[in-house]
Amino acid sequence: MSISHTSSEANFHLLLLVLLAVAASDVVVTASYSSIHELLRSNGLPAGLFPESVKSYKLDQKGRLEVQLDRPCLAKYENRVLFETVVSANLSFGQLKGLEGLSQEELFLWLPVKDIIVNDPSSGLILIDIGLAHKQLSLSLFEDPPVCRSQGSSLYTAGRKIIGFQDQR
Ligand SMILES: *[C@@H]1O[C@H](CO)[C@@H](O)[C@H](O)[C@H]1NC(C)=O
Repeated sequence: MSISHTSSEANFHLLLLVLLAVAASDVVVTASYSSIHELLRSNGLPAGLFPESVKSYKLDQKGRLEVQLDRPCLAKYENRVLFETVVSANLSFGQLKGLEGLSQEELFLWLPVKDIIVNDPSSGLILIDIGLAHKQLSLSLFEDPPVCRSQGSSLYTAGRKIIGFQDQR
């Protein structure tokens, strides 16, 4: 099933689903969405937080989101971001918390991203918590799902550190 992004009728149906889901329980999302990108948008988050190449996702009753990719891959926003094969987080409105499987390059180090928060969409800002620092970036960087390139054999993972990553642009 696919829902056209341009069809206002489809959007209206999606809105109805969301309203019904919210009315039916305190759980943020109980409806099923055709894509992770629809799910993000309906939770006040930009669609581009996950790449185009998402294979599938699961969302449990507690709001634990698990996103499955074919293989680890790199996407470029402001800095480079590494998606592992499985990325999980607690999803609530405007927030992905307790992220696992996502790292961002900062000054040649790969640091795990912990939380991603949009407090106020009208500010145009998104908050990225990488443990050592909070970064505020423009929401517009995350508007569209990025292309995510797999890196094959140059990827070496040791605990949370990734060494020997080569740029293959
Ligand atoms: C994520 O949710 C689980 C329960 O569903 C909770 O135990 C855990 O502390 C949460 N993590 C964060 C970082 O909020």
